[in-house]
Amino acid sequence: MWVLAIETSCDDTGAAVVLDGKKILSNVVSSQVPIHQKYGGVVPELASRRHIESIVPIVTEALEKAEVTLREIDGIAVTQGPGLVGSLLVGLSFAKSLSFAAGLPFVGVNHIEAHLSAIFLEEKPPRFPFIGLVVSGGHTSLFRVDGFGKYKRLGQTRDDAAGEAFDKVAKLLGLGYPGGPIIDELSKTGDSKAIRFPRPSLGKDSFDFSFSGLKTAVVNYVKFHPVPVEGYPENLIRNIVSSFQEAVVEVLVKKMLQAAQHQGLKRIVLSGGVAANRRLRERMKEEASVEKIKVYIPSPSFCTDNAAMVGVVGYEYLKRGIRSPLSLNAFSNLPL
Ligand code: KG4
Ligand code: ZN
Repeated sequence: MWVLAIETSCDDTGAAVVLDGKKILSNVVSSQVPIHQKYGGVVPELASRRHIESIVPIVTEALEKAEVTLREIDGIAVTQGPGLVGSLLVGLSFAKSLSFAAGLPFVGVNHIEAHLSAIFLEEKPPRFPFIGLVVSGGHTSLFRVDGFGKYKRLGQTRDDAAGEAFDKVAKLLGLGYPGGPIIDELSKTGDSKAIRFPRPSLGKDSFDFSFSGLKTAVVNYVKFHPVPVEGYPENLIRNIVSSFQEAVVEVLVKKMLQAAQHQGLKRIVLSGGVAANRRLRERMKEEASVEKIKVYIPSPSFCTDNAAMVGVVGYEYLKRGIRSPLSLNAFSNLPL
């Protein structure tokens, strides 16, 4: 089954052609970073306008790269939520129109489920059940995953998402947008033990997260260490971000391992933009191996927003005969 997948939940316009939920024929992502960079974050109105401009060329490019025409496509999968509603509506309206015009079935996909399923694009995916963490700009949620469509949420962030904390700390230090990859890079040469930032845990039995206190600790650190006129020395910046990153990573790793133990599972899956983080990938594998837990993390390009992961989920539902009606709406808070 050839699925054309479309993803426009935030600031990336993505289209992909995926065969049988596994083989990627094309996976095109058009980033809007240059548009939002000067504002230090995504401006929803600009994002949806840009999606409108990009959607036709990006879908066309995905079909061309896959060397298929619409005639060979068996179904369309599109992100329905959660995300920015204006952005979601562009992809969803386009997918519905194409479905109607080409007489193809279409199915709406949950963006969180798509992130959790990105691992199935890899050579050796995990067996069910497993513990799955979605850690992105909008979400930090921990699930027990028993199959496609079978999710039990164990915990989530009570305030900021981990990626949001990365972006806010980078903005505070004037490092640019998006903050995650910048902090990841700077941290390579920073001292992660230089500053002891808090590791919010919310108790041993809770699988919830909280990152706003950690973010405030960075704000306070900066407040009490006034910036000299020539700006912070480069090595201090590296030490601040490296110490901040270490605190986030430590919390994520600890909670995941606790959840695995709690559920008696030996397989864990990381997903979402923050799962592209070098230190998180490294620490997660190190700590899990001590407990003989197997860690699965998609390649970095499948961690950040992309349409191929939407194609994985779309295939699973389309092959079971599940179809969405043309009246399907986008929901910014669509739950999983
Ligand atoms: O999954 P994603 O592309 O979009 C959402 O669904 O939110 O995640 C974007 C988030 C941003 O907050 C970005 O700063 C973060 O993922 N991110 C990273 C890295 N790459 C992206 N955070 C830490 N380290 C990275 N290497
Ligand atoms: Zn995402």
